[in-house]
Order: sequence, then structure tokens, then C-alpha cells
Amino acid sequence: MPAQPAPAGSPRPIRPRGALVIEIEGVTKLYHMGSETIHALRGVSLKIHRNEYLAIMGPSGSGKSTLMNMLGCLDTPTAGLYEFTGKNVAHMDDNELAAIRNQEIGFVFQTFNLLPRSTALHNVELPLIYAGMPRHARLERARAALDHVGLANRMDHRPNELSGGQRQRVAIARALVNRPSIILADEPTGNLDTRTGEEIMALFEDLYEQGNTLIVVTHEEDIARHARRIVRLRDGLIETDG
Ligand SMILES: Nc1ncnc2c1ncn2[C@@H]1O[C@H](COP(=O)(O)OP(=O)(O)OP(=O)(O)O)[C@@H](O)[C@H]1O
Ligand SMILES: [Mg+2]
Repeated sequence: MPAQPAPAGSPRPIRPRGALVIEIEGVTKLYHMGSETIHALRGVSLKIHRNEYLAIMGPSGSGKSTLMNMLGCLDTPTAGLYEFTGKNVAHMDDNELAAIRNQEIGFVFQTFNLLPRSTALHNVELPLIYAGMPRHARLERARAALDHVGLANRMDHRPNELSGGQRQRVAIARALVNRPSIILADEPTGNLDTRTGEEIMALFEDLYEQGNTLIVVTHEEDIARHARRIVRLRDGLIETDG
């Protein structure tokens, strides 16, 4: 029998949520393609507190990645309000935005986005190089992050010398190495088989229990069931939130 995800009745403790960290209100996003205007988001409002575990679901093209990129300050809304820890993101300069992206948020992508010629250790060390951390300190920190995701014995492997699940764990270690408070993951199990995907979700469960805030985009119900709150998008609008 293939590995099955945890049964629906299994206990999933809900941690008390913390302070409000993300608030968006009436956010829209338009893309202009020649004469065509695409309404990727049509007025989305959402409040996210620290130590929430949120899944964002919805059909292909419903605006999940657009919303995620906005939450991660990788993109800006066409209209509407985005406040991060009470500060209006539209009023932030490039340095402030970079500080949020580099220090507050860890990104995990479906395609891992690792440097193919670099070892796991170097991939994980990179954000700390950008942050200007001295070599000794950053190697120590990068090794600890890889150890944390169960890859202590794979630090010198390059991505093509790792399994898909191991690659994603390297990407998660890289996302964690700056000790962000929020993990944003867009289809983190999309390129993994069911069992490996469940291993990644078990790792996310640990991160949640350690006090992290998790926002995971997925179109798989089995993956979304790990979250404590599911937001469903349809045609650029929130259909349900609960
Ligand atoms: N850079 C862009 N330029 C023009 N249109 C875009 C751009 N990015 C996204 N879109 C359009 O905006 C809509 C929402 O796209 P988005 O990537 O957010 O969907 P999604 O929910 O993440 O879908 P999927 O499940 O396929 O990843 C789609 O109709 C898409 O074609
Ligand atoms: Mg997407």
C-alpha cells in the first residue's frame, strides 16, 4: 500500500496565535498584456497573526502566486493596503523592503531554486553572505540549519547529487538560515512524490510547533490539511477563509 498521509482524525495541536503581522485590505493586482487587462486579484483582504499556519488554495490561475509574491514583498499591489507589522508597505523604501525580505521572510519554491554548481552548504550560506555575516559565523549557522532539516551528512553534495526531497530540505534550510519569522512556501511539495511531500510537511509541522508563521500555497487537499486555516481563492477573490 502506498504511504498515506496522517488520518483526518489525528491530533493537530493549535498553538495560540500571536500579534497581527500581515494585514491586507482590498488588494487588487492588474496585469496588462497588450490591450488585455488581467485581474489577477480583485480585492483581497486578509489578516495573518504570528504563529498561524495558513494554506492558500485555489484552481490554477486563481491568483495564489500573485498573492504570495505580494505577501513576500516581491511584488506590489495595483491598489489596496498592505501593512506589515503595522507599517504601510507602499511607504517603504527599497532598503526597508529588502530588510523585510531578507530578515523577516523565508521563501520556499516549488522548483527549489538552488544554485546547481554549489554545495548544499554554500546554497544555505548565501543569504548570510548577502547579509554580510563573517565567514566563521555564517558557516556555523548554515551547518546548523542543514542539521536541523536532517542533512548533516549531505552538506558537500551539489543539488544533482541529492534526491528531490533532500533538495527541498536544502531550500528550507536556506529559508530558515536568517531566522525569519515567516515562511512563505509556494507549492513546496509540487515536484515531490506523496511520501517525500509528507516528510516536508512533517518538517513544516516542527517549524510551526517551534513558533514560526507558515503560509503555504498548494492545490492539494492532503497538503492543505496540515494547515490550521485554509484560504480558498477563486478568480482573484477569497471564496472561503476558515
Ligand atoms: N507577470 C504576469 N503577467 C501577466 N499575467 C500574469 C502574470 N502573472 C500572473 N498572471 C496572470 O494572473 C492570473 C493569476 O496568476 P497566478 O500565477 O497568481 O495563479 P496561481 O493561482 O498561482 O496559478 P497556479 O496554480 O497555476 O500556479 C493568471 O490568469 C495569470 O495568467
Ligand atoms: Mg502559482
